[in-house]
Amino acid sequence: MPLLRTCIVLSSLVFFNIQQGNYCRGETQATSSSFAQTKGNHFVMNERSFYLNGFNAYWMMYMASDPSTRAKVTSAFKQASKYGMNIARTWAFSDGGSYRPLQSSPGSYNEDMFKGLDFVISEARNYGVHVILSLVNNFNDYGGKKQYVLWAKERGQAINNEDDFYNNTVVKGYYKDHVKTVLTRINSITGVAYRDDSTIFAWELMNEPRCQLDPSGTLLQQWVKEMAAHVKSIDSNHLLEIGLEGFYGGTTPEKKQFNPSNLEYGSDFIANNLIPEIDFASIHIYAEQWLRGASEEAQADFVDKWVGVHIEDCNSVVRKPLIMGEFGKSYKLPGYTIEKRNAYFEKLYDVVYRSASSNGACTGALFWQLLAQGMDNFKDGYDVVLEESPSTASVIAQQSHKLIEFTRQHSNVTKST
Ligand SMILES: *[C@@H]1O[C@H](CO)[C@@H](O)[C@H](O)[C@H]1NC(C)=O
Ligand SMILES: *[C@@H]1O[C@H](CO)[C@@H](O)[C@H](O)[C@H]1NC(C)=O
Repeated sequence: MPLLRTCIVLSSLVFFNIQQGNYCRGETQATSSSFAQTKGNHFVMNERSFYLNGFNAYWMMYMASDPSTRAKVTSAFKQASKYGMNIARTWAFSDGGSYRPLQSSPGSYNEDMFKGLDFVISEARNYGVHVILSLVNNFNDYGGKKQYVLWAKERGQAINNEDDFYNNTVVKGYYKDHVKTVLTRINSITGVAYRDDSTIFAWELMNEPRCQLDPSGTLLQQWVKEMAAHVKSIDSNHLLEIGLEGFYGGTTPEKKQFNPSNLEYGSDFIANNLIPEIDFASIHIYAEQWLRGASEEAQADFVDKWVGVHIEDCNSVVRKPLIMGEFGKSYKLPGYTIEKRNAYFEKLYDVVYRSASSNGACTGALFWQLLAQGMDNFKDGYDVVLEESPSTASVIAQQSHKLIEFTRQHSNVTKST
């Protein structure tokens, strides 16, 4: 079904020097049947290269499910679109627990929450933003693998470890059912099935999968293979990524030195991303947490190497696009200033731009995390409220501008090759 062609008057885009007056996002960003695809190590949409500049906002379904807080979602997309962002990553899960879960027990869904997710997708489309939807959490927030194994344990499965999530047949069945329920959901606002909706840029198997039960990475590799095939059997329209932070594993022992403190986390960046059903790779970047206590120089050095080695891998071995799925700078950690945050964003944005402009694999970055105004309960130190941080907003807008200009100048490249 074609997308709504929502023309929004965005006076701020004059700043981008794109077009004076009415700027119809539908024309350039989300026209009908334009599912994102990959071509070699970059993304293509509407026969043009497509570079990502955007944000994380895990809270969207939750806020959208309550009429009194729903406007926060609209406000976030409106602001993001004003600064030229074209991608949001958010949760399509919230499992168990007593407080408004999406899935209260295996196969039981809360319709109000699903309507919230419908609204998030519909509103993204209205503002010309695409979404990456993650399907479960490695960590306990909003349920996660811990909740899944608990459900199976309550039903008599012999489970000793959270990481049996990746191995137990019953648990894997619950996850597969959740995937199917989300992918085949018909949006109550737009009438479009999620699997047919090109507003969705990609599915993500899991937020930051780790498996300490098998640090070598074999177990997670099996799981990714099985679940990627499952996703593609239901939805062959959309791109799929894993949600990895980027840790190297057993198949590339020589790369272990790039992991924080040389540790293994049960994922295997290269092998996992070589699985054919996986369309692109991700890294997350949290040197200030992974190397807590290390000097700023040591952390900066880690970031340079972390980013560089993954781009190199995606250029030469994985041969798929790479996104910086999460990065940010916390004002709760020592040494923070807003100038440092802005410089850090600029540095990583520049890596994306330089990679993109030399046909490299790094084709986008999503900061953690965007909040709308008046969401103090969600502040985690990494939050950016665009209305309250004009200097950071300007850095973000510059990146959007550069990528949009670059795409315009190279719009012939993908057509002719
Ligand atoms: C996975 O499950 C199988 C069969 O239930 C078991 O033999 C195997 O040890 C498990 N693997 C891990 C890493 O726990
Ligand atoms: C695309 O290529 C044609 C022919 O070479 C040229 O006339 C046109 O200006 C190019 N368009 C863009 C947007 O670069």
